[in-house]
Amino acid sequence: MSTQIPKTIKAIQVDKAGGPEVNVLREIPTPSPGENEVLIKVQWTGVNYIDNYFRTGLYPVTYPYTVGSDAVGTLISAPKDYPIKEGSKVFTTAGKAFAEYLVAPTDRVAVLPDDIDPKDGVSLGVQGLTALYLLKESYQVKKGDWVLIRAAAGGVGLIFIQIAKYLGVNVIGTVSSESKAELVKKNGADHVLLSTDSSESNIKKILDITGGEGVHAVYDGVGKDTWDENFEIIRRKGTIVTFGNASGPPPAFSPLKLSAKALKVTRPTLHAVVKTQEEWDEYTSELIDISKKGNINYAVHKVYDFTAEDVAQAQRDISGRGTTGKLLIKID
Ligand SMILES: NC(=O)c1ccc[n+]([C@@H]2O[C@H](COP(=O)([O-])OP(=O)(O)OC[C@H]3O[C@@H](n4cnc5c(N)ncnc54)[C@H](OP(=O)(O)O)[C@@H]3O)[C@@H](O)[C@H]2O)c1
Repeated sequence: MSTQIPKTIKAIQVDKAGGPEVNVLREIPTPSPGENEVLIKVQWTGVNYIDNYFRTGLYPVTYPYTVGSDAVGTLISAPKDYPIKEGSKVFTTAGKAFAEYLVAPTDRVAVLPDDIDPKDGVSLGVQGLTALYLLKESYQVKKGDWVLIRAAAGGVGLIFIQIAKYLGVNVIGTVSSESKAELVKKNGADHVLLSTDSSESNIKKILDITGGEGVHAVYDGVGKDTWDENFEIIRRKGTIVTFGNASGPPPAFSPLKLSAKALKVTRPTLHAVVKTQEEWDEYTSELIDISKKGNINYAVHKVYDFTAEDVAQAQRDISGRGTTGKLLIKID
């Protein structure tokens, strides 16, 4: 490729744990790929809730820390015989994505097909792959199962509902407002409950909907606030999937809590589930396939500029519970 690679690039970094104001835009040396790495020129990146966990120190990072979890861009350079051609449009979950160029391991890059909009391609990264692995592995859904997804109007939530419906699953979503409930219904959920209603009334509704049994699986990215309710709405032999901490991490608990209903609890992360090259290839190609066959809509809440102020605002917005779908940042 003949792209002139600059010596320095702009990137959003943080130097200490703190609020959204600790994000700074600065000039850094262009990262240089090692033996099993590629260089990508970033076009679009997206905000993920996990950015807050890194920024606040809930998940430890090394400083200076370059923000960002996933991106769409152009493959600039790669090792000899790499199966993806230089110049290809690609997506990655390599991280350090709030930057004009990023370096990704060779096994964390997939070609973005021409018929998928690059903006949608960002949602195929952390949020899309998470929705898919939750449904395929954390609890492997079967046609006709009942599942409950919390924060159903969010980035992961809207994609999760659509894939779950594509797989023939019955979906109950929870959200915090009427407008989000409407959107979740439009995206295919069979029932939507307001998390602002009392827990007692929501438990009763879920049991009524599921013939008194409860759901086969609950997928909970909210964490602390909804932890106890999960044990009331899950059926015998069901699975509680705790995959996030939007309200804070769930409390420690005794395995004895699982015995009355013979429950399973799992706490997955994307990078532990989709880890090997084979897993990456399988998940990315299945997600692309489902995206096309299922006509998945990757809703965008807003496009933000590549400035420290806009990144801080995007992080405030996603924590402020007013957003739905994906928050994008246009880099190039
Ligand atoms: N383990 C993994 O592999 C993995 C991968 C990706 C994402 N995640 C997790 O999945 C969850 C969703 O991620 P996302 O990026 O798609 O974010 P998101 O769902 O777009 O935004 C978070 C949502 O959480 C809900 N929420 C509930 N209580 C909250 C509180 N106290 N403060 C803020 N928000 C609260 C809000 O929806 P309502 O207002 O409707 O409740 C909010 O819109 C997060 O917990 C994230 O960490 C996990």
